[in-house]
Amino acid sequence: MRGANVRTISEVKMAVRELRPGVLSLSALDWNRRLFDSLIPLPDGTTYNAYIITGSKATALIDSSDPAKERELLENLKNAGVGRIDYIIANHAEQDHSGAIPAVLKEHPEAKVVASQKCTEFLQDLLHIPAERFKPVGDHERLSLGNKTLEFIHTPWVHWPETIVTYLQEDKILFSCDFFGSHIAGSDLYADDEAKVLSSAKRYYAEIMMPFRAMIKINLEKLSGIDIRLIAPSHGPVHDNPSLILNAYREWTSDAVKNEAVIAYVSMHGSTEIMVNRLTEGLIKRGITVRQFDLPKTDIGEVAMALVDAVTIVVATPTVLAGPHPQAVYAAYLANLLRPKLKLVAVMGSYGWGGKMVEQLAGMITNLKVEVLEPVLVKGLPREEDLLKVDALADAIAKKHSEYKLMD
Ligand code: FEO
Repeated sequence: MRGANVRTISEVKMAVRELRPGVLSLSALDWNRRLFDSLIPLPDGTTYNAYIITGSKATALIDSSDPAKERELLENLKNAGVGRIDYIIANHAEQDHSGAIPAVLKEHPEAKVVASQKCTEFLQDLLHIPAERFKPVGDHERLSLGNKTLEFIHTPWVHWPETIVTYLQEDKILFSCDFFGSHIAGSDLYADDEAKVLSSAKRYYAEIMMPFRAMIKINLEKLSGIDIRLIAPSHGPVHDNPSLILNAYREWTSDAVKNEAVIAYVSMHGSTEIMVNRLTEGLIKRGITVRQFDLPKTDIGEVAMALVDAVTIVVATPTVLAGPHPQAVYAAYLANLLRPKLKLVAVMGSYGWGGKMVEQLAGMITNLKVEVLEPVLVKGLPREEDLLKVDALADAIAKKHSEYKLMD
């Protein structure tokens, strides 16, 4: 069941739409934001979703917005006819959701900020909200708004250690903040374009959630006993078919991998690229799906997405001043931070007069529980005997892939 549009985007600056009677979605659309955390590419912009729940005795605002959209949030609360706010639920302290809380508190001096204990501490440090404005809540603690009841479920590490999700019991809506989110600025309230939303959600998972895969699995299990009809995240559209995103998360966080190899490479004068193309051809011949990325031309988010399921990463780089190319360093460093399920790593590339490329790259991936294959290093332009070593690497990768439990 879907609620009616009470206003449309064309009528107000920010979308105010009804999810259920007494439950409004307030979406701040950031169409043109292209970078998050000064790191993550946002090809589709993003949204900061807040929600208003009006009970018979009290009103709660769930999350707020990025400070850049603070004025729009305040205007929209007025547009939505919100008079008094008793509680501001801070599911997560990161400023893209909490940044407008001080402005809301100023306009609503009666409001208390409801959050996990750790989140209250973060918000005192990050936003200088005074301690007396908080109401800390424990795991599964409930808050009655009269005819609507909020339950706070502690879900640490989706995305920071303080994160919680909020469950509206009567309407069976899970307000999940970053969890199950996607960076899309779009006018659809619901995840109607499932392929697009899943692709964006996978990118989001890869960049934001993947480092905490073990904790995400625990939190998915924790939510498994709850009857959820809608998942309303604070980025991207609402899921009115929750199993779509829940099943995707189960797959992404599972231990199973796909018969895929990521080749992340840089080539300055073409020698390393010759090796990369030979390896790509060799892996394809051996039945392995290859995702090849020319790093200086690649959206690094695409590499992160490819790492969600892959067995192998091959980093290919020429030597630059006795070490790997800085673009290869960045890719290896990022892969190490994101902690994908990878099982195998290989390094290859062309050098001019020596260097410590392999040792330096190996030192950057210490978080990864991987087997490191014999590197293939070539002096100058590859000769046929060098390319036979690349073929041998393809053989070694294929042999290892045959030993792993692979998803279809
Ligand atoms: Fe959307 Fe971790 O903030």
